[in-house]
Amino acid sequence: MTLVSTDRAVAQRLFLAREVALRAGAVQRERYETVLAIASKSASIDLVTEVDRACEALIVEAIRATFPADAILAEEGGVGAAEGALFRWVIDPLDGTTNFAHGFPRFCVSIGVERAGERTLGVVYDPLLDERFETVRGCGAWLGSRRLAVSRETQFGRGLFATGFPYDVHTSDDDNLEAFAAVVKSARGIRRDGSAALDLCYVAAGRVDGYWERKLHAWDVAAGILLVEEAGGRVSDERGGPVDPSGRELVATNGSLHEALIERIQRRGSR
Ligand code: IPD
Ligand code: CA
Ligand code: CA
Repeated sequence: MTLVSTDRAVAQRLFLAREVALRAGAVQRERYETVLAIASKSASIDLVTEVDRACEALIVEAIRATFPADAILAEEGGVGAAEGALFRWVIDPLDGTTNFAHGFPRFCVSIGVERAGERTLGVVYDPLLDERFETVRGCGAWLGSRRLAVSRETQFGRGLFATGFPYDVHTSDDDNLEAFAAVVKSARGIRRDGSAALDLCYVAAGRVDGYWERKLHAWDVAAGILLVEEAGGRVSDERGGPVDPSGRELVATNGSLHEALIERIQRRGSR
């Protein structure tokens, strides 16, 4: 078994998303641990490499050539058709740039597609493990040919959680450290692995029981949110309200541990 969609327009886009994710992943695999041109963006610790840009160019060119009327939002600035398009692609060409730049083996390509503003499909590809996470709304979350389900853990103290820290952590008080302390003091364990898209895939796969992060962007979470939901998990803001698609604050869990995680991480200070 594998993920299929009977909706032709969605199936065609899933096919392309899969193909370009594999191609961009192959570029990442080839360039991993080679000498890279690296620059900073919003902060000195917010990096971009020539490989981020090359992967984005490859993906955006393929979408423009195949679906010229579709809109595109891509992290490094790639754009597609004007607003008003039915479909919009939301792309992180390389999620985990700091890891990639340091030779730490955890990064991926993340591609989400919305139809009329609704998250419709997602592909996240980890090129080193050759793991392809895929989802289509209503058709489940998949890792290759295996259908995914979130974990069944109900006890917070037995839970493994993931999080991340924003690029302005050196200068902002809204730094996630208080929430991090609250979880680390009461969970079985916590991970900061440096790829938000893979963190969400790992919630979907039951590898971690929950994940939260602040100050993300739409491209970090476009595919991952749908993967978690289609695997039976819950995604919300930090008050348990509707998920913020911009990624400004995000809590994703197996559902059972959602309230318990929110209780620990809710902002106590001002934003
Ligand atoms: C980053 C990663 C990281 C998260 C950052 C993201 P990038 O994306 O997902 O895990 O903590 O907030 O911006 O910059 O590697 O694409
Ligand atoms: Ca990212
Ligand atoms: Ca990126």
